[in-house]
Amino acid sequence: MHKAFIRAHLGAGDVAVDFTMGNGNDTEFLCRTVGENGKVYAFDIQADAVESTRNRLEGCGFSNYTLIHDSHANVLEHVKEKFKAGMFNLGYLPGHGHHEVTTKRESTLAAVKGAMSLMDKDAVLLVAVYPGHEEGKLEGEMLEEYFGGISRFEYCITKVNIVNSPTSPFFFVIETK
Ligand SMILES: C[S@@+](CC[C@H](N)C(=O)[O-])C[C@H]1O[C@@H](n2cnc3c(N)ncnc32)[C@H](O)[C@@H]1O
Repeated sequence: MHKAFIRAHLGAGDVAVDFTMGNGNDTEFLCRTVGENGKVYAFDIQADAVESTRNRLEGCGFSNYTLIHDSHANVLEHVKEKFKAGMFNLGYLPGHGHHEVTTKRESTLAAVKGAMSLMDKDAVLLVAVYPGHEEGKLEGEMLEEYFGGISRFEYCITKVNIVNSPTSPFFFVIETK
């Protein structure tokens, strides 16, 4: 479902941003979708995430990406162009020792605000939230409050969740008109 939302807005030659690259699954999907004439920026604060994503993308033969070893909160220092699709997959890297390296409310909010300012016309931003751990639950509550105050004349913001499984991951879809 996540990918269907992205594909509805992103095509060959477009710009995309992966705000939480981790092992690069989403970065690879974005690189594949924009093709050789497109551009993908990806962020992570963990050096080994950047390294494993670089190896993965090199293995795919891509050259249409810039990997940024910095917090996504600093997005406006690194990305100077509008994007058609952005993805946040919040939380920590699954199957990894460093569960304490998780996204946190303050930097997540700064990053989401920066991301929204970089959205092109007819663009999408997906923010996946993991409420099964405490910081994830608080991030979700903070984001819902923030998004609830945004003008519907500028952005259409939807929440997709599993109603009979409240601790399962859910996501917000932010679309520009
Ligand atoms: C759930 S994982 C992302 C999974 C990834 N999308 C994938 O396809 O493998 C969340 C990632 O966010 C990263 N992260 C945490 N805080 C961050 C921050 N302030 N800026 C950028 N990345 C951050 C973590 O290091 C972790 O790799």
